[in-house]
Amino acid sequence: MNSNSSERKSHWEGVYSNKSEASVSWYQDEPTRSLELIGEVAPVQGGRIIDVGGGASVLVDRLIHLPFDRIAVLDISETALGKARSRLGEHAARVEWLAADVTEIRDLGAFDVWHDRAVFHFLTDPADRNQYVALARRTVPEGGHLIIATFAESGPKKCSDLDVCRYNADSLRAEFDGFSLVRHAAETHTTPWGAPQAFIYGVFRRRLD
Ligand SMILES: C[S@@+](CC[C@H](N)C(=O)[O-])C[C@H]1O[C@@H](n2cnc3c(N)ncnc32)[C@H](O)[C@@H]1O
Repeated sequence: MNSNSSERKSHWEGVYSNKSEASVSWYQDEPTRSLELIGEVAPVQGGRIIDVGGGASVLVDRLIHLPFDRIAVLDISETALGKARSRLGEHAARVEWLAADVTEIRDLGAFDVWHDRAVFHFLTDPADRNQYVALARRTVPEGGHLIIATFAESGPKKCSDLDVCRYNADSLRAEFDGFSLVRHAAETHTTPWGAPQAFIYGVFRRRLD
């Protein structure tokens, strides 16, 4: 693990150790937009999905009731994964829990759907973004999809005290070499204390190399 990565890990372990799941700014009790977009691109039966930087999100609680053959949640924070895992009880065994930095992984196997809400925007170093997109290209086969949600141009400049990059449809498209932007949607997330945050959701399809 390089020093950037170990700093990142201790930051996120601290966040999840000190705050409850429902008190973080990104908390959603229902990931409605994610589920809608996943429903649009997931294979009708079976298929493989990974929630990248899923943290303690309840998205996985919904995914286990959908007909996926393989479900994985990846996060740099073991504490976050532990929270989601204990919430799911016996259903946790249906899920692969991957504690890792997404910029450092070489191989994840294949996934038809890659979902990321509010993780890619923390990659302010272009080298980290390149690693991320290269991993996505290796992981998602032709015809598979990425769903990437980041802060929009009018969104916050920081999240969890960390700088973020903000995107519009064009700048998001420009990051994802090897993928075509199929559609994008704006969404306003409301934090648990009532502050609005502008997001953009991009849906990308993997092209042939
Ligand atoms: C703002 S939270 C979003 C969590 C979740 N996606 C959601 O929508 O509730 C960002 C998440 O990304 C994770 N994270 C940050 N950097 C990461 C990295 N380089 N690799 C893997 N996970 C990372 C954090 O631990 C945290 O759970």
